[in-house]
Amino acid sequence: MSKKIYITRKIPEAGLKILREKGVEFDMGTSKTSPSQKYIIKMLNKKPYDGVISFLTDYIDKKVFDACPTVKIFANFSVGFNNVDIEEAKKRGIAVTNTPGVLGTAVAEHTVALILALTTRLVEGDKFTRAGKFKGWDPELLVGTDIKGKTIGLIGVGDIGGKVAHMLHSGFGVNIIYSDINQNTLLEQDTGAIKKETVDVLREADIVSLHVPLLPSTTHLINKDSLATMKKTAILINTSRGPVVDEKALVDALKNGVIAGAGLDVFEFEPKLAKGLTSLPNVVLTPHIASSRKTARDMMAELAVKNIISVLESGVALNSVIK
Ligand code: GLV
Repeated sequence: MSKKIYITRKIPEAGLKILREKGVEFDMGTSKTSPSQKYIIKMLNKKPYDGVISFLTDYIDKKVFDACPTVKIFANFSVGFNNVDIEEAKKRGIAVTNTPGVLGTAVAEHTVALILALTTRLVEGDKFTRAGKFKGWDPELLVGTDIKGKTIGLIGVGDIGGKVAHMLHSGFGVNIIYSDINQNTLLEQDTGAIKKETVDVLREADIVSLHVPLLPSTTHLINKDSLATMKKTAILINTSRGPVVDEKALVDALKNGVIAGAGLDVFEFEPKLAKGLTSLPNVVLTPHIASSRKTARDMMAELAVKNIISVLESGVALNSVIK
């Protein structure tokens, strides 16, 4: 296949190997940090590329499409695709794909890890011990909370939310309530999950975990008002997209005891964090690494490449996000 693609940042060898086998020529950005849109445009101007592998940190809009009129597909190396102007791509007949089904387990495990880190006070304990503050066993030291018998409220039960439900139900005896635009009867049968309105999920859950895509309708889904609806003892977990939460409102809620804690892997203005967030003792923060596993990254690379090849060979996008 005499095709050329541009990859905006380094992807694992697992994907590059397939490109080489298929004879697809590629140029790949080498920067460890996200390239600016200006830089991406400059690179795309250099050759008549046929496809692009983009990342969630690349803003792919009209300006980028204008710079590469020969490109037929943007294969986004992530399950989320809010970084791409889908409507504009659709208008221009450009395929856009994502990498579903290969990182759900990693993200679900990370979600459970954040929950347990908060309820067992793991990170606080680590800091305390490293600081040389451990002076002997104390029955009142860093007392945590159980999750067995508690209720998790999942906002969104697609692949990732569904996996979190299974892990917490069968592994930890947690009750499941959820809100979603679709009823998930299989999940209900398997875990006893009960579907409710989002406001009731927020009101009743001990742990609220977000698993929705970033859309205009989910931006600031968690805001001052919705935080006020939650239990004072509840914790909020976000491994979806930062702007689903009004981060400033969350910091205020955590400071003022409106909710008890938060575990965040994603941030509203990534990589910037809301003022005051890092000084709070009741948060656990990770740098958008929930899907960062060797297996998941390899499979994401393979899937992105397979989408490119399929579109360039036969015009079929395997994981189209264009409806
Ligand atoms: C990670 O955030 C992804 O969308 O794959």
